[in-house]
Amino acid sequence: MAGGNIPITAAWYFFLFTLVGACCGLLVTVFQGDGEPLVASLGFSGIAFAATYCLICWLGDEFKRVGLKGRDVSKIDKRELPETMGAVCAVIYLMVMIVFIPFPFYEYFVSSTSGGGNRDVTVEMVETGRMLHRFPHNKLGEYLSALLSLQSMAILGVADDLFDIRWRHKLFLPAIAAIPMLVMYYIDFGVTNIVVPLPLQAYLGQLLNLSWGYYVYMAAIAIFCPNSINILAGINGLEVAQSIVIAVFIIINDLLYITVKGHPATDSHLFSLYFLLPFLGVSVALWIHNKYPSKVFVGDTYCYFAGMTFAVVGILGHFSKTLLLLFIPQIFNFLYSAPQLFHLVPCPRHRLPHFNARTGLMEPSRGSFMRPPKWYISLALKMLEKLGLVKLWCDDRGNILEFSNLTLINLYLVRMGPRREDKVTWGLVGIQVACAALGLFVRHKAALLLFPYDNLRLQDFEGLGLMMG
Ligand code: UD1
Ligand code: MG
Repeated sequence: MAGGNIPITAAWYFFLFTLVGACCGLLVTVFQGDGEPLVASLGFSGIAFAATYCLICWLGDEFKRVGLKGRDVSKIDKRELPETMGAVCAVIYLMVMIVFIPFPFYEYFVSSTSGGGNRDVTVEMVETGRMLHRFPHNKLGEYLSALLSLQSMAILGVADDLFDIRWRHKLFLPAIAAIPMLVMYYIDFGVTNIVVPLPLQAYLGQLLNLSWGYYVYMAAIAIFCPNSINILAGINGLEVAQSIVIAVFIIINDLLYITVKGHPATDSHLFSLYFLLPFLGVSVALWIHNKYPSKVFVGDTYCYFAGMTFAVVGILGHFSKTLLLLFIPQIFNFLYSAPQLFHLVPCPRHRLPHFNARTGLMEPSRGSFMRPPKWYISLALKMLEKLGLVKLWCDDRGNILEFSNLTLINLYLVRMGPRREDKVTWGLVGIQVACAALGLFVRHKAALLLFPYDNLRLQDFEGLGLMMG
């Protein structure tokens, strides 16, 4: 074995073998029973975890050999680490999701027949006299379109890691990757109405039909989710940790729905679970290697793949607005970054915090003005400084020379003072958890102040159905 790879300890081997054994046991029970897909998904997720964990350990040197590597600039030795390990996650994830395809549809293959080789229960007479199986082709279509979108994003991510694609190009590629699932949304669901908040209903009516605008909005979600995770990055473990938190909260939301017996949205939320459980499996394995002090980097591949997974489940699971409530730190970071992203103020290639080798702590990194900024830019920055939202370095005459880079990570350091890298990551993960918990609370409790219904409650769902219908 090549020298630089991460060794797998005996304890880990033992744990992974036990886990894979238990997961295979789960899969056997699925085959023996009536093919419960959620149990199969759990089994596959465990296997995906083990496979990702091992492959990341084994492939590090190979990745470096072909040039997929990056320097950890926030360490004294600026060590070189394998990058693009998100590609391992994406490949294993896609393989598991492909093997899983028969499971959600198992009941349509087997249990609906009356036995003896008859397929009578699933057969439906159509007007033309043809015999068709009542198979949910639309659901299979959704599943396959989601896989196609995710696969396109993984390819884009690898291309970005290899060639460093320009921002203006990579911003729009996710919208193209999203087309398969938007087409499926149109065919299968097609709802483009949104419920108007109570205070606005007097002007806009109960429902507002956004028609094609809704598709633009969903394409925007597909652009936003991957890119927003990619720009809230640069300290060990943060990309994966924020994705894990978001995934866990979507899973909690899904469980809230599927535990309500007979809820009409059960299928959409099961769909979301089938996509998120294996995602969690591969992500946790990656996080173990990527957390402080990182042994591998995730690359843009992981950020795109993770963001697209959320966009896919949000759009095809019909909860894209709830999804945004779990992205509050990313939305803030994007808005806060906008002046740099749109070049109103200078934006260096890397905005990750500065590592002070003397103290071993992270400090806000700076953007600098080559010539004095325009008066309105100065005014805006000085107002932000008054609000404690940026740190400025000025010359004797008050001209701004430098400013702390406009990212949430730097803002955290401006507010909290210099911190060790892992403390910063945990602080930001804490913010993500608090915001996500608040988001879900607002969605299901406080939203009743603004909206007539919460679709989690069955009686409300019926009310909403009447309105839509
Ligand atoms: C985005 C950010 C950039 C930030 C970078 C860090 C914007 C517009 N772009 O760019 O400001 O610097 O992510 O990921 O906000 N690295 C570390 N430690 C880490 C993670 C990354 O040192 O914990 C460094 C490594 O050298 C690694 C590189 O960052 O090779 C990865 O940067 P890359 O993902 O290519 O940057 P972008 O996504 O383009
Ligand atoms: Mg990146």
